[in-house]
Order: sequence, then C-alpha cells, then structure tokens
Amino acid sequence: MFLRLCFYACLFLLLGLRSELANAQFFRKVGDKFLSYSKIVVDPSGHGNFSTIQSAIDSVPSNNRYWVSIKVKAGTYREKVNIPYDKPYIILKGEGKRKTLVEWGDHNSTAQSPTFTAVADNVVVKCMSFRNSYNNPINNNPKRPAVAAMVSGDKSYFLRVGFFGLQDTLWDDSGRHYYKLCTIQGAVDFIFGAGQSLFERCSISVIGAALEPGFPGYITAQGRTEPNEGSGFVFKDCHVFGNGTTYLGRPWRGYARVLFYNTNMSSIVQPGGWEAWNFVGHEDGITFAEHGNFGPGSDTSKRVSWAKKLDLTTVYKMASLNFINNQEWSQNQMLL
Ligand SMILES: *[C@@H]1O[C@H](CO)[C@@H](O)[C@H](O)[C@H]1NC(C)=O
Ligand SMILES: *[C@@H]1O[C@H](CO)[C@@H](O)[C@H](O)[C@H]1NC(C)=O
Ligand SMILES: *[C@@H]1O[C@H](CO)[C@@H](O)[C@H](O)[C@H]1NC(C)=O
Ligand SMILES: *[C@@H]1O[C@H](CO)[C@@H](O)[C@H](O)[C@H]1NC(C)=O
Repeated sequence: MFLRLCFYACLFLLLGLRSELANAQFFRKVGDKFLSYSKIVVDPSGHGNFSTIQSAIDSVPSNNRYWVSIKVKAGTYREKVNIPYDKPYIILKGEGKRKTLVEWGDHNSTAQSPTFTAVADNVVVKCMSFRNSYNNPINNNPKRPAVAAMVSGDKSYFLRVGFFGLQDTLWDDSGRHYYKLCTIQGAVDFIFGAGQSLFERCSISVIGAALEPGFPGYITAQGRTEPNEGSGFVFKDCHVFGNGTTYLGRPWRGYARVLFYNTNMSSIVQPGGWEAWNFVGHEDGITFAEHGNFGPGSDTSKRVSWAKKLDLTTVYKMASLNFINNQEWSQNQMLL
C-alpha cells in the first residue's frame, strides 16, 4: 500500500515537472537543479539553424537565464565571435580541437584584436579552437600583440579548447575560469591578465623560435594588482614544451601570482625561470612558485632568488578546484 502510494506520488511529481518545462526543448539536471536547455546548430553548409557562430549567439535573448547549447559543426569559421555581457549561460560545443576552428587576424590594438571575446558570466566552451592568424602560423608580419581569446566573465569553463597566437594569445582578463585539457600556443606573454584560473592537464606550446635569435619568450604575464586579490594562474599536471627558450613568466602587475604544479617541463625553460620586468626591486610582492614539477626544465637550482617557496597546504589549496570554486559552479558546469 505504502509502496503504491509512493509510486503514484512519484509519477505525479514527474509529470508535474515535465509539464512545467514543456516549453523548453530539453532540460538537464545541473547540480540539484533541472534547467531548461535549448539547442542550436551552426553548420557552415547551411543545414543547421545558422551558418555563423555569431548569428547563433545573436539569436539568444538578452538577459538569457537558461543554458543554451550552440553546437558548432566541424569547419573553419572566418569570423570574430563575441559573447556580450547580457548573454550568459551559453555553451559553445565544437566537434574537436582540430576540427572546429575559428580564425581571424586583427592586431590594431590588444583590446580590439581578440578573435573570441567572452564578457558574459557562465560561459562553457568545448572541443574547438580559436586562432589569431596575424602571427600564427609563423609568417613575415611584424610581431604585434594579437589576441586569440579574451575571457572577462566569471564562472567560465573551457574543455579541450585550443588557443593559437604569438604574443598575448589568451587574455585571461578577470573572473574565475577553469581550463581543462586545453592547448595554449604562443611565445610572448601568451597567457596574461588578472583572471583567477586553474589550468589542468593543458599543453603549453611555446613557439619561441619565431622570435629574434637570442630573445627568450614568456609564458605568463599575470596581472594581480593587490596582495589580497584572488587573481592568479595555477598550472596543474600540464606540459610545457616547444622550441626556442622561454621564461615561465614575468609580472604584468605588482602582485602577480603564478604556480606550476606537477608539470612536465622540457629543456626550453630558462634556468632562471622568471623575470621581474618592471618590478625589479619590488619582487617581494610577486608570488611565482613551482612545486613537484619534472622534466629537464624543472630544475630549480638556478632559479631567481626571489621565487617563492609555498608551504604544502597553500600549494594543495591552489592546485585544486577550491582555488576557483567557492560556490561549486565548475562542478555543476562539468555536468553540462
Ligand atoms: C533549429 O533547427 C531545428 C531543425 O530545423 C528546429 O527544430 C529548431 O527549432 C531550430 N532551433 C532554433 C532555436 O531555431
Ligand atoms: C584597423 O586598422 C586599419 C588600418 O588603420 C583600419 O583600416 C581598420 O578599420 C582597423 N580595424 C578596426 C576594427 O579598428
Ligand atoms: C616551432 O614550433 C612551431 C609550432 O609547432 C612550428 O610551426 C615551427 O616551425 C617551429 N620552429 C622551429 C624552428 O622548429
Ligand atoms: C614529458 O615530456 C616529454 C616531451 O617534452 C616527453 O617525452 C615525456 O614522455 C614526458 N614525460 C612524462 C612522464 O609524461
């Protein structure tokens, strides 16, 4: 009797939920919430809802409150893509890092140059690549800052995404971001900004051979401005490789914070590891740290004297989702 009652109660509840969401095309459980979820297909051959990524984004209503999944078919898209402030909860899903490619080559100014710009919060991007083609692939153009992607919103998740450029490839501008299994390629300050970001199992591909002979590259130029800011870049289980030589980073702002943890570093890493750039004499404010790395480039015996040694508690706290995940947002987004 009790079981039967339960059965009807459950059925009633399920039917209730279904009718409530009947207007949505799909719904998904994200964390403990059912969220409606609509699906748009971008196909350059004209068989989808749209043939450009931007027109699909433009079709999302302003102040969107539901996850909208935009499936981007394989192909090379020659367009700039912008997810503006009022279009949160967008999922861009390509068919593979080497199959769905977005390319543009602006370089007039750093701010104007990004091929992909995400200003909205709650953006998820999977299985595609963004390239700023001005200096990548390597060519004879003068070398300029030319951004492949700028990420300014909070709570954004990038899975299996490629970012290709030479100088200033990934502008990790502000907000909490999680990059997993991504490839980031460049030579000078090619991961820069004041984001609070965890890069896990990412390939850091250095094309230092593109620079003038004798000039090393810089992987990071982190932009933390205050000692109590959350901003910082953490590289966990990554792989640093490529050609030419490179420093792990130089500070863009006075309290820059970067940690490399359990990362495989090839011999391209400069023995000194880090440079102080415009902050010579003010190294105390800078937190550049390494822990548990391996490979020929990981030898810390010739590192600059001011590199920080973090205690294990701090290292483990930073090299985990806790670093970016105060409200468990990234665990929810990983279910999408
Ligand atoms: C996309 O196209 C499909 C197939 O034609 C259609 O069922 C769906 O309603 C379209 N979605 C949007 C958001 O236009
Ligand atoms: C970039 O600069 C060129 C040359 O000055 C100009 O023609 C073009 O309109 C500029 N593009 C943008 C987007 O500002
Ligand atoms: C450096 O690596 C890039 C990317 O793989 C490649 O295109 C370039 O040819 C390499 N340069 C040299 C001199 O090996
Ligand atoms: C580290 O990277 C090198 C190439 O840079 C590779 O040959 C080696 O197998 C990697 N080591 C591990 C343990 O993954």
